Order: sequence, then structure tokens, then C-alpha cells
Amino acid sequence: MSFSEKQEALVKEAWEIMKEDIPALSLYFFTQVLEIAPAAKGLFSFLKDAEEIPENNPKLKAHAIKVFKMTCEAAIQLREKGEVVVSDSTLKYLGSVHVQKGVVEPHFAVVKEGVLRTVEKGVGEKWNEEMKEAWSEAYDQLAAAILAEMNKEI
Ligand code: HEM
Repeated sequence: MSFSEKQEALVKEAWEIMKEDIPALSLYFFTQVLEIAPAAKGLFSFLKDAEEIPENNPKLKAHAIKVFKMTCEAAIQLREKGEVVVSDSTLKYLGSVHVQKGVVEPHFAVVKEGVLRTVEKGVGEKWNEEMKEAWSEAYDQLAAAILAEMNKEI
């Protein structure tokens, strides 16, 4: 099924709201990820030796923002071009960082669940099944592009 204008709008609408609350939502996102997969803590430089998830950590915020923003960009491309296009250099970089850090395919499902829970929390009453589907689809396509690059590396 192709990605509709409505779906693109739902993803963008959510990101616009979430942008206003990055520190709290970044923390929430990592809390969810570690609740689902506690072992993922060891992958992240800013978590592995920390007693608890650090608040306002620039690297933590950067990863959360990247995941949400790139999913939003993926939604725009899916509607415009019917596929996710990430520039070669960005994709190469993303592929190699994740392989180096020991990220494996099942982690992407964990992060997806973290993303969906965080969008739900971030948009409050605006959350609905259609918005969930739109975020799921855009994230899945982006994750597939990153995973394909990771598989080329190993
Ligand atoms: C690093 C994006 C999924 C774990 C990075 C970086 C980017 C990024 C841009 C580099 C940050 C920098 O410049 O330092 C994304 C996107 C994802 C995704 C867009 C999915 C759509 C995942 C998943 C995992 C993961 C599923 C595993 C749970 C990591 C780790 C680092 C990293 C451990 C190194 C961060 C550090 O220790 O400082 N990611 N990522 N990422 N990513 Fe992801």
C-alpha cells in the first residue's frame, strides 16, 4: 500500500508537537527501550556505566532526535517518491556505526516499540490507530534501509 498524504501529515503533526519537549521525550524513549530490552544498555556509550538513564545528556538526545527526525523524513519521501531515500554517505555512516556498536536486527523492533510508545506519550489525545500505522510504516522502511546497509558491512 502506498503512503498517503494523510499518513505523511500524521507523522509530521506528531513530530511538530514532540519537538517542543525533546529532553523529557528523549528520556522517556530510552526508558522504554531499556524496559523492553535491558541488555541494550550496554550498547550505548552514555548508558553503559551509568546508574540510571542520564537526563539532558547531549548524546542521548541526539540519538532520540535522529530516530524521530529521520522517521519523519522517511514519511515525506515515502509519500513523494514511494520509497525511503537516504544519501549514500549518510547510509554508509549509519550502517557502519551500528555494526561497530554491536547493533543487530532484533534491536530495531525494540526501538520501534520505543518510538511508538514515545509518540503516544508525546501527542497525548491526538494519538490514534492511523497515526500509529503511519509511524510504523515510515520507521519500518527506514530501518530496512539501515539494515540493508549493515548487512553489506558484515
Ligand atoms: C548511533 C541513528 C537505530 C544504537 C547512531 C547515530 C545515528 C543513529 C545518526 C550516530 C550518532 C552520532 O553521530 O554519534 C539511528 C536511526 C535508527 C537507529 C535513524 C533507526 C531508525 C538504532 C538501534 C539501536 C541503535 C535499533 C540499538 C538498540 C545505536 C548506538 C549508537 C548509535 C549504540 C552509538 C551511540 C553512542 O554510544 O554514543 N544511531 N539509529 N540505533 N545507534 Fe542508532
